[in-house]
Amino acid sequence: MGNLWNLAKFLFLVIAIVLPTTVRSTDAERRSVHRSAREEAEAVRQLLHRLIPEKADEILIDVDYNLDNRDAFQISTENDKVLISGTRGYTAAAGVYHYLKEYCGCHISWSGNQLRLPTDLPKPIQTLKITFNDKYRYYQNVCTSSYSYVWWTWDRWEKEIDWMALNGINLPLAFTAQEAIYYKVFKEMNFTDHDIEVFFTGPAFLAWNRMGNMQAWVGPLSENWHRNQVELQHKILKRMRDFGMTPVLPAFSGRVVPAFKRNFPNANTTYMNKTWAHFQPPFAFVTFLQPTDSLFQEIGANFLRTYISEFGTNHVYSADLFNEMPPPSSDPNYLQSCSKSLYKSLTTVDPEAVWITQGWMFYSDSDIWQPAQARAFLRAVPLGPFEGRNYEGSTMIGTGLTPEGIETNDIVYELMNEMAWRKGPVDFHEWLEDFARRRYGTDSAKLQLALMYLKRSVYNATDPYPNHGKYILIRRPSLKLTPYVWYSPNDVFVAWDLFVNASDDPILSQSPLYKHDLVDITRQGLQLTMDAMYPKVVQAFRRRNVTVLREISSSILELYDDLDEILASDEHFLLGRWINASLNLARTPLERRQYEYNARNQITLWGPAGELVDYANKQWAGLISNYYKKRWQFFFETLENCIVNRRPFKQADFNKAVYTEVEYKFDMGQEFYSSEPTGNPIEISKRLFEKYKQTDSES
Ligand SMILES: *[C@@H]1O[C@H](CO)[C@@H](O)[C@H](O)[C@H]1NC(C)=O
Ligand SMILES: *[C@@H]1O[C@H](CO)[C@@H](O)[C@H](O)[C@H]1NC(C)=O
Ligand SMILES: *[C@@H]1O[C@H](CO)[C@@H](O)[C@H](O)[C@H]1NC(C)=O
Ligand SMILES: *[C@@H]1O[C@H](CO)[C@@H](O)[C@H](O)[C@H]1NC(C)=O
Ligand SMILES: *[C@@H]1O[C@H](CO)[C@@H](O)[C@H](O)[C@H]1NC(C)=O
Ligand SMILES: *[C@@H]1O[C@H](CO)[C@@H](O)[C@H](O)[C@H]1NC(C)=O
Ligand SMILES: *[C@@H]1O[C@H](CO)[C@@H](O)[C@H](O)[C@H]1NC(C)=O
Repeated sequence: MGNLWNLAKFLFLVIAIVLPTTVRSTDAERRSVHRSAREEAEAVRQLLHRLIPEKADEILIDVDYNLDNRDAFQISTENDKVLISGTRGYTAAAGVYHYLKEYCGCHISWSGNQLRLPTDLPKPIQTLKITFNDKYRYYQNVCTSSYSYVWWTWDRWEKEIDWMALNGINLPLAFTAQEAIYYKVFKEMNFTDHDIEVFFTGPAFLAWNRMGNMQAWVGPLSENWHRNQVELQHKILKRMRDFGMTPVLPAFSGRVVPAFKRNFPNANTTYMNKTWAHFQPPFAFVTFLQPTDSLFQEIGANFLRTYISEFGTNHVYSADLFNEMPPPSSDPNYLQSCSKSLYKSLTTVDPEAVWITQGWMFYSDSDIWQPAQARAFLRAVPLGPFEGRNYEGSTMIGTGLTPEGIETNDIVYELMNEMAWRKGPVDFHEWLEDFARRRYGTDSAKLQLALMYLKRSVYNATDPYPNHGKYILIRRPSLKLTPYVWYSPNDVFVAWDLFVNASDDPILSQSPLYKHDLVDITRQGLQLTMDAMYPKVVQAFRRRNVTVLREISSSILELYDDLDEILASDEHFLLGRWINASLNLARTPLERRQYEYNARNQITLWGPAGELVDYANKQWAGLISNYYKKRWQFFFETLENCIVNRRPFKQADFNKAVYTEVEYKFDMGQEFYSSEPTGNPIEISKRLFEKYKQTDSES
C-alpha cells in the first residue's frame, strides 16, 4: 500500500560494484574506522538495551570473526542464557532480530515495534546457525536522503541504523554532510560564498543536486545547516562502524559551481544539454567538469582527501557520472576515459578504493547505453559488474534495497530482508500468518486472512510499475485521468472489513501497529473509492448536468474530509510531523521560512513551477484537506462555471489557475499542522467502512 512504486525501483536499480585488485588496509586506517570484535559486540549489547532494556542482560552477545568464512549468526544456549553470536556486529544484530522474531514472536518496523516478551526468554535447545547468501546487503537510494531523511535528527537516525543492523544490512549509503566538504574544497579554489550559494540546492533537494540534475533551487545552505549535518554524519558513521558496517561514502563526479570557468577559463567543462524534469536556468544545466580534464583528478582527489580527513573512510565510494543525464558523447572511448578518470581520482588518494555506481542509467537511458557503451564504461576499471548469482561465471557479490522513500509497506521490506539468508522461496501462507502474529502480537485469524487478500491484490504488482504512486486521489484534477489499479478493489474492501471486524479483540484494540495498519487500509479503501467516483464527474460534465455534478462533487469533497480524519488519527500520516521536523532544524526566522518552503514544495509542486508536480505526493492528514481537496474543489467550481457560461474546459488554463489559486498558495503557506494524532482510528474506520463499503460494489 502507499507508495508502491518503490517496488519498481527494486527491479531496476542494479548496483554495479567495481573492485580494486587487492584489498589491504594500513594499521592507521584500520584504527580509525575498524572496530574490534569486542567493540562490535558491545554495540549490539547497547542496541539490546535500547530495544528491550528489562531483558537485555539475559541475552549474551558474542562477535567472532571466525564463526564462519561468510556472514553468519548463531543462536544457542549457554549457562542457561541465550547466546547470540555473529561474525560481525551487524550479523549478531540480525541474530538478535531473528531470535526476537522466531523465538519470542516480536516485530520491529518503521511503523512501530511489537516487543512483548515471554516472562522467561525461550532457550534454544538446538543451536541454530544461519549463513547469509552474499557478502553484501546494500541499502538506500541516492534519493532517500531527500525524500525521507532530510529533516532527521540523531534520534531517528539511531533507530534507522538499528533497523539496518537488525536486518543484516552491511553496505548503507552515508551521504549526509558532503556539502560541507564541497564547500571547503570550492573555497580553497577561491570561489566566493555567493558562487557556492547559487550551486547547492535547499536541504529537501540535495539528492538531485548531488546527481547534477539541478542547482540552487530553494538554497542556499547556511553555516548552521553544514554544522548540524557534519555533527550528525560523525554520529552516523561512528554507529555504522560500531556495528561493523561499511558505509558507502560520496565521491566527486564532476559537477562544479556555475562560476567555474571564471576561475578556470581553460577548463574543459560541459553541461548536460537536456533539461532535467523541465527545470529551467538558473536551476538547470549544471556545469560538469569533463572527467578527461586533469583538473577533474585534482578536485576529485582534493574532495576525497578533505572528506577522509573529516570522516575517515571504509574505502567504498559512490559516484554516478551520468545519472538521468545522457553523456555528451556516446563514443565508447570517451565513456571509457570518463570512468577511468573517476576511478583514478579515487585510487590516487585511497589505493584501496572501491567504486560503486548505480545501474539505473543503463535502464533509464538505455538508447544511449548500448552494450558497447556499457562495456566500455564498466570495463575501464578492474573487475566488472555482476549479472546475477545464478548466471554462469557470476561475479554477483550482494543484494540490496534501494527505495527512493521509506516508511511504507513494512511487510515488503521484512520479507525482502529475509531473502538475504533464505535459501529458497518462502511458504507465503505460513509466512503471512507468522508475520501477522508477530506484528499484531496476537493470533488473529481475521487479520491473517486480511493479509492473504492484500497479498493476492494490492501486493501482487507483477507489472513494472509505471505510475509512481499517482492515484487519481492525489493528482492534479483533469477530465482525462485513468485509474491505475492492477487488482480487484473488492479484495481490499474485504480486507478492510476483516480489519474492522478484528477490532473487538482487546489485544488489537491496544496495538499501535494494528491501528496503524487499520488507518493504512482505510486510506487504501478511500483511494479506491475516489477511483470509482471520478468517472461520474467526467460524465456529469459531458452531459453538462450541474445538479449531478454538484452531487458527486460534494461526495468527493466529503471523502477528502473523511480521509483527512482517519489519517489524522495516526502519527505516521501527519503533514505536521514533516513540517515540524523541518522547523526544528532552523535557527533563524529566515531559515524557518526556507525549510518550511522546502518541506512543502518537495511533496507538492516539486520545483518552482510544478516541474515534477506530485511526484513525491503523500497521503497525509493536512495535505489531503489543504492541498488535494482544495484542488478538486477549485476544479468543480471551474467545471460548473464552464457549464453555466457554456464554455469548454481548458486544461492548460486550469493548470495555470490551480497553480496560482491552490498549489503555490499552499507552498507559501505557514499555517500550523499538528504533529500529534487526534481521534480514535477504530471508531473512525468503522464509521467510514459503513459509509463506503457500498461504493465499491456499484463500480
Ligand atoms: C587562490 O588565491 C590565492 C591567493 O590569491 C592563491 O595563492 C591561490 O593559488 C589560489 N588558488 C587557486 C586554486 O586558484
Ligand atoms: C574537451 O573534451 C572533449 C570531450 O571529451 C574533447 O573532445 C575535447 O578535445 C576536449 N578539449 C580539450 C581542450 O581538452
Ligand atoms: C543544445 O542542444 C540544442 C538543441 O539540440 C542546440 O541548439 C544547442 O546548440 C546545444 N547547446 C550546447 C551547448 O551544446
Ligand atoms: C498475481 O498476479 C499474477 C498475474 O496477474 C497471477 O498470475 C498470480 O497468480 C497472482 N498471484 C497471487 C499470489 O495472487
Ligand atoms: C464483519 O462484521 C459485520 C457486522 O457485524 C458482518 O456483517 C460482516 O459479515 C463481517 N465480515 C466479516 C468478513 O467477518
Ligand atoms: C441531470 O440529471 C438528472 C439525473 O439523471 C436528471 O433528472 C436531470 O433532468 C438532468 N438535468 C439536466 C439539466 O439535464
Ligand atoms: C514540534 O517538535 C518539537 C520538537 O520535537 C516538539 O517539542 C513540539 O511539540 C512539536 N510541535 C508540535 C506543534 O507538535
